[in-house]
Amino acid sequence: MRFCSTAAFTFLFIIINLLPLAISDLNSDKQALLNFAAAVPHRRNLSWSPTAAVCSSWVGITCSPDGTRVTALRLPGVGLVGHIPPGTLGKLDALRILSLRSNLLSGNLSSEITSLPSLHNLYLQHNNFSGEIPTSFSLQLNVLDLSFNSFSGKIPQTIQNLTQLTGLNLQNNTLSGSIPEIDLPRLKHLNLSYNHLNGSVPSSLQTFPNSSFVGNSLLCGSPLKACPFILPPPSPSPDLSPPLPLVPSNKSSKKKLSMRAIIAIAVGGFVLLSLSALIIVLCCLKKKRSEGTGVSKGKGLSGGRSEKPKEEFGSGVQEPEKNKLVFFEGCSYNFDLEDLLRASAEVLGKGSYGTAYKAVLEEATTVVVKRLKEVVVGKRDFEQQMEVVGRVGQHPNVLPLRAYYYSKDEKLLVYDYVPSGSLSTLLHGNRGGGRTPFDWDARIKISLGTARGIAHIHSMGGPKFTHGNIKSSNVLLNQDHEGCISDFGLTPLMNVPATPSRGAGYRAPEVIETRKHTHKSDVYSFGVLLLEMLTGKAPLQSPGRDDLVDLPRWVQSVVREEWTAEVFDVELMRYQNIEEEMVQMLQIAMACVAKVPDLRPNMGEVVRMIEEIRQSDSENRPSSEENKSKDSNVQTP
Ligand SMILES: *[C@@H]1O[C@H](CO)[C@@H](O)[C@H](O)[C@H]1NC(C)=O
Ligand SMILES: *[C@@H]1O[C@H](CO)[C@@H](O)[C@H](O)[C@H]1NC(C)=O
Ligand SMILES: *[C@@H]1O[C@H](CO)[C@@H](O)[C@H](O)[C@H]1NC(C)=O
Ligand SMILES: *[C@@H]1O[C@H](CO)[C@@H](O)[C@H](O)[C@H]1NC(C)=O
Repeated sequence: MRFCSTAAFTFLFIIINLLPLAISDLNSDKQALLNFAAAVPHRRNLSWSPTAAVCSSWVGITCSPDGTRVTALRLPGVGLVGHIPPGTLGKLDALRILSLRSNLLSGNLSSEITSLPSLHNLYLQHNNFSGEIPTSFSLQLNVLDLSFNSFSGKIPQTIQNLTQLTGLNLQNNTLSGSIPEIDLPRLKHLNLSYNHLNGSVPSSLQTFPNSSFVGNSLLCGSPLKACPFILPPPSPSPDLSPPLPLVPSNKSSKKKLSMRAIIAIAVGGFVLLSLSALIIVLCCLKKKRSEGTGVSKGKGLSGGRSEKPKEEFGSGVQEPEKNKLVFFEGCSYNFDLEDLLRASAEVLGKGSYGTAYKAVLEEATTVVVKRLKEVVVGKRDFEQQMEVVGRVGQHPNVLPLRAYYYSKDEKLLVYDYVPSGSLSTLLHGNRGGGRTPFDWDARIKISLGTARGIAHIHSMGGPKFTHGNIKSSNVLLNQDHEGCISDFGLTPLMNVPATPSRGAGYRAPEVIETRKHTHKSDVYSFGVLLLEMLTGKAPLQSPGRDDLVDLPRWVQSVVREEWTAEVFDVELMRYQNIEEEMVQMLQIAMACVAKVPDLRPNMGEVVRMIEEIRQSDSENRPSSEENKSKDSNVQTP
């Protein structure tokens, strides 16, 4: 009887305790975050309104793809002050990334946070946390950065359990004791510098550079200076381990210790000597092998990548001007300029306005940074233009500008990274190779999206605001595989070179003469883009070839001689029942490239004309492809 009631009670207790876990969802995440924000003062407004959508409008939040859990919280440099109250962030049990770096957080770090079960990346550097580092961690941890705090005590032994760890930064704390034997196969980056560590560097960590350990005056052994062969005078602290922890320290009498020490030195010295001999032999062997076959062993994919030379795009950023990255409203990014400059970057392309880089920040955020050259306007005009560009960018068919940076020597623009490539690569990439044909439906869809984007830019930006640089490499594909136009509104800022190569083939005749862009000159460029889409030909064949004829004039000459079918891309010939649509599209394109600007339609009219093609299309042509694209529309919300 008593057993029964106890059991029932225990059962109830378990249920009550498990229930909130089982139903933990976005609401519980939200409440945890609200409790955190209410308890921890912060300088920057987080706009965490209880009524707003957590996943889309709260600063610093990333949700799972299905929008049911918060998976990343990034609040670097927002002026958070004080300690993290228990039962707040420690409740975000779906969290994978937590970045609270560069704040003023202090007090102990609770193991509630370090052991969040899904936590992959923890960035708490540049705060003032103190006390010991917790000993329980999420076994998923990839990166643990606790550097530049006031942590003290020992480095926990349990770090050895973190088999996924690739980066461990503990520099600039006041950690003491000896370094535990950490042997983690994936560990690529280690920094224990500027602490109060002592003893010798464990053999498993001796492959890391000197700079991983500097600033610990009592630390010795490779890669630092060799350990002295004389033991330091016995310290009153029993904690202090001998410099050669090859023999585990034991609670034995002092007399015995000195005997053990002598043995340790002897054994240690011998092992060290043999080790160095072994290393020398191995090095020689390795060198020989790589010389011989040219194949270097043990270079994984990631190893190869990290060895890529780092590209630089911020060399003109002045120290006092840091943190002046200007973000636009509605932007969920939460990094600062310093992060951006520290990101690993690769060149995406060199364009007429400057070089574009793909920058990977921390783990999950990838952005495109455009480094502008030859900006001729002053800061005031630049900011005003950026303000319009930011406002105009709010449209599904326009690639929004997320942030910019302006200084005398450096101008940077930050855009979303769009992984699916450009219209230019779809049209011209890998022709002749085993490319998947670029079908008619996809071409129309991209053209229509692009037209809508440009029409939006014209209507929102006002009569003076033009795109100014419409070309197929500036048309990207958004998530719905529609066209998305990028790189707009920059022409007025730049010293437009007189070289004919810039925007060659897309420029309206009057732009070549006057260098003035108008809405109608954008329409001309869009017309060339349509012709490019229809013919599969680049607007200007590569210079130096004798068929240097611009696309509109070539199409006009062919059409005049009634060889209309000849102009279309051979790749389109495999599709049935599309000739009529292609001819209609050709007529729209020809209207756009009229010589006289006033004879060209405006962008709104162009959109309507393309939409009409699509309408008659869905009435007349119930082809299988049409059905397919409808299905995929349903699936991607
Ligand atoms: C950091 O915290 C310690 C106490 O733990 C305090 O003495 C120190 O002044 C703090 N430093 C800063 C910069 O707030
Ligand atoms: C972690 O490591 C410690 C010793 O370093 C060990 O006692 C403990 O069982 C390990 N925990 C897990 C979950 O592996
Ligand atoms: C890290 O610590 C070292 C030694 O105290 C110091 O020279 C260095 O400036 C510190 N770095 C930072 C960024 O505080
Ligand atoms: C470790 O941190 C120190 C101090 O911030 C720095 O000087 C050193 O270059 C870093 N080492 C590595 C390997 O990152």
